Amino acid sequence: MTPKKILAGALGVVLALGLCSAQAQTTKFLADRHAGYGVKCDACHTDAAKGTLKIDKNRHEACVQCHGWYDAVAAKTQPKDPEEMNPHSQHDGNLPCSTCHKGHKKGENYCGNCHYYTFNVP
Ligand code: HEC
Ligand code: HEC
Ligand code: HEC
Ligand code: HEC
Repeated sequence: MTPKKILAGALGVVLALGLCSAQAQTTKFLADRHAGYGVKCDACHTDAAKGTLKIDKNRHEACVQCHGWYDAVAAKTQPKDPEEMNPHSQHDGNLPCSTCHKGHKKGENYCGNCHYYTFNVP
C-alpha cells in the first residue's frame, strides 16, 4: 500500500465520522431519493410489502434496466486520480448492485472487507 492510500484511508474515516451525524438528519436513503425521481417501489421490488428484490437468473437487479450494467456505471464513476479505485470495477463477475447499494439504509463499503478502499456508497 502506498503512503497516499494510507493518508486517503485516514482522511476517509475522519470525513465519514464528520458526515455521519449531519447525514442522519439531512440525507434520505436510496429508495427515498428514487421516490423523489418518480421511481416507485415496484420498479425495484416484485413484492414491496415483503421487500423481495427484482432479480433475474443471472443475478441482474432492476437497477440495470435504468442505469445499465457495470461498464455503463463505471464510466460515470472513473476517479480523476489514477491512484484511486473505480468502485464499479470489480472482480466478482455479476455482483448484485445491492451488495453495496442499500435501499433503506446506509450503503455498504463491500470492497473494504478485503481492501483498504473507503467507498462512500450512495
Ligand atoms: C431504488 C430501488 C428501491 C426502491 C424504489 C424501493 N426499494 Fe425497498 N429495497 C431496495 C433494496 C436494494 C433493498 C435490500 C437492501 C435494504 O434492505 O436496504 C430493499 C429492501 C426492502 C425491504 C426489506 C427490508 C428488510 O429490512 O429486509 C422492504 C420491506 C422494502 N424494501 C420495501 C419498499 C417499499 C414499500 C418501497 C416503496 C416505498 C421500496 N421498498 C422502494 C431497493 C428499493
Ligand atoms: C425505474 C428506473 C430506476 C431504477 C429501477 C433504479 N434507478 Fe437509480 N435512478 C433513477 C433516476 C431517474 C435517477 C436520477 C437521475 C440520475 O441521477 O440518473 C437515479 C439515480 C440514482 C443514483 C444517483 C443519485 C442518488 O440519489 O444517489 C444512484 C446511486 C442510483 N440511482 C442507484 C440505483 C440502484 C443501486 C438501483 C437498484 C437497487 C436503482 N438505482 C434503480 C432511476 C432508476
Ligand atoms: C462495490 C460497491 C458497489 C457496487 C457493487 C455497485 N456500486 Fe454503484 N456506486 C458505488 C459507489 C462507491 C458510488 C459512488 C461513486 C462516486 O461518488 O464517485 C456508486 C455510484 C453509483 C451511481 C451514481 C453514478 C453517478 O452518476 O455519479 C449509480 C447510478 C450506480 N452506482 C449504480 C450501480 C449499479 C446499477 C450497480 C450494479 C450493476 C452498482 N452501482 C453496483 C459502489 C457500488
Ligand atoms: C472477499 C475479499 C475481497 C473482496 C470483497 C474484494 N476483493 Fe479485490 N481482491 C481480493 C484478492 C484475494 C485479490 C488478489 C490479491 C492478489 O493477487 O494479490 C484481489 C485483487 C484485487 C485487485 C487487483 C489488485 C492487483 O494488485 O492486481 C483489484 C483492483 C481489486 N481486487 C479491487 C476490488 C474492488 C474494487 C472490490 C469491490 C468491488 C474488491 N476488490 C473486493 C479480495 C477481495
